[in-house]
Amino acid sequence: MASISSPNSGPHQRPQLMTPGEQFGRFLLVEHIGQGGMAEVFRAKTSWAEGVDKEVCIKRILPPLSSDKQLREMFIQEARVAASLTHGNIVPVYEFGIIDTYYFLAMEFVDGYTIREIMMEAARKKRWLEVSEALYIATEVLEGLDYAHRKRGTDGAPLDIVHRDVTPGNVMVSTDGEVKILDFGIAAMGGVKDVAQGAARGKPGYVAPEQAVGMAADGRADIYTMGVILYEMLTHRRLFKQKDPRARLEAASSVARPSEVRPVLPASLDSVVLRALEPKAGFRYGKAGEFRDAIFDYMHENGMRMTRAQMAKALKRVFGSHTTHGAIDADIRDLDEERLERPPRRQRVTRSTRTISSNRGVPGLDAAIADARRARLRGILVGMALVAVVGLAALLLLS
Ligand SMILES: Nc1ncnc2c1ncn2[C@@H]1O[C@H](COP(=O)(O)OP(=O)(O)O)[C@@H](O)[C@H]1O
Ligand SMILES: [Mg+2]
Repeated sequence: MASISSPNSGPHQRPQLMTPGEQFGRFLLVEHIGQGGMAEVFRAKTSWAEGVDKEVCIKRILPPLSSDKQLREMFIQEARVAASLTHGNIVPVYEFGIIDTYYFLAMEFVDGYTIREIMMEAARKKRWLEVSEALYIATEVLEGLDYAHRKRGTDGAPLDIVHRDVTPGNVMVSTDGEVKILDFGIAAMGGVKDVAQGAARGKPGYVAPEQAVGMAADGRADIYTMGVILYEMLTHRRLFKQKDPRARLEAASSVARPSEVRPVLPASLDSVVLRALEPKAGFRYGKAGEFRDAIFDYMHENGMRMTRAQMAKALKRVFGSHTTHGAIDADIRDLDEERLERPPRRQRVTRSTRTISSNRGVPGLDAAIADARRARLRGILVGMALVAVVGLAALLLLS
């Protein structure tokens, strides 16, 4: 796939055709594997001394945005956060730099699949992940998040890192079964909420309610989004499909138990997942490590064991032996829910089976949810009025 760029700033102004197979500084771009709102991602190769080749992943700021100050700052923030983290469950960044006026990150190339790709392929082939496999992925992500949330700077002061975009497209599982968090593109660090004011603050289907309404969010916002991903991996369906942000907020306050959505799931797992999905952060797990431990306890009590090698086998089961890098667009917002299994009709979830326990007031959030409810009620009333008018008109015409 090629993308044509025409950078509009700096002395190097010239239209460029960035095609895989092309040289970008000392990197050979081998394959285009993703593109989001901010950057393009390539599998690339670079040569070290004495003909030693190294495969890397290049994330390069999108040309039209290179001149956009806010997006540039966001990219720099991503580099800053990623550079401060060294953990087995976080993709390591090798270098941050500028080539031909474009900022880029060179990082480890993860030979594997995003959770999004795994879920879509599993849905297509009806080769779903087992409960133990979904739980394994969750514990590994939580391991990385716990580390990032606790990370301190060289001066010993907490860095207060919050990823804020833990989505299926931003977590990869390598063909060896390693789980890695990517994309600190909108991460917060040191209490800085938004480098780019008004820019995307997380994906609507995953974001924690407090983050969605612009309130201060800490590590518990990442616990929430990991809860949504786990819920989806276990139930094989999207949790929040509402396009309207207010309807989405309201849906967060009444989430069905996983075992009701998919009855083969053990009911004893419900509370482990739902605690992460409490709309009010104070009712969730306090730390990512607590969520991880709750899953470990559950696995232990139920005699479940999962290893990296078993995870690698699970991927082979889902994908077969060949890999399909880049075959699926990176944007999870459009994850086609119709490809994920819908619950059978007769198991429609009723309000009485829905659960979320928190009821303590959080003013901003409560107001936002109440607002969402009012808007929905207004919608229903308008709909009813329309039906009445149409009915009356039909009656008049007929008589
Ligand atoms: N280090 C990596 N190794 C392999 N694939 C990667 C890597 N980083 C990103 N990708 C792929 O590129 C996609 C987009 O990368 P990401 O960092 O999430 O960018 P964006 O900010 O555009 O979402 C990912 O969903 C993944 O498919
Ligand atoms: Mg991403």
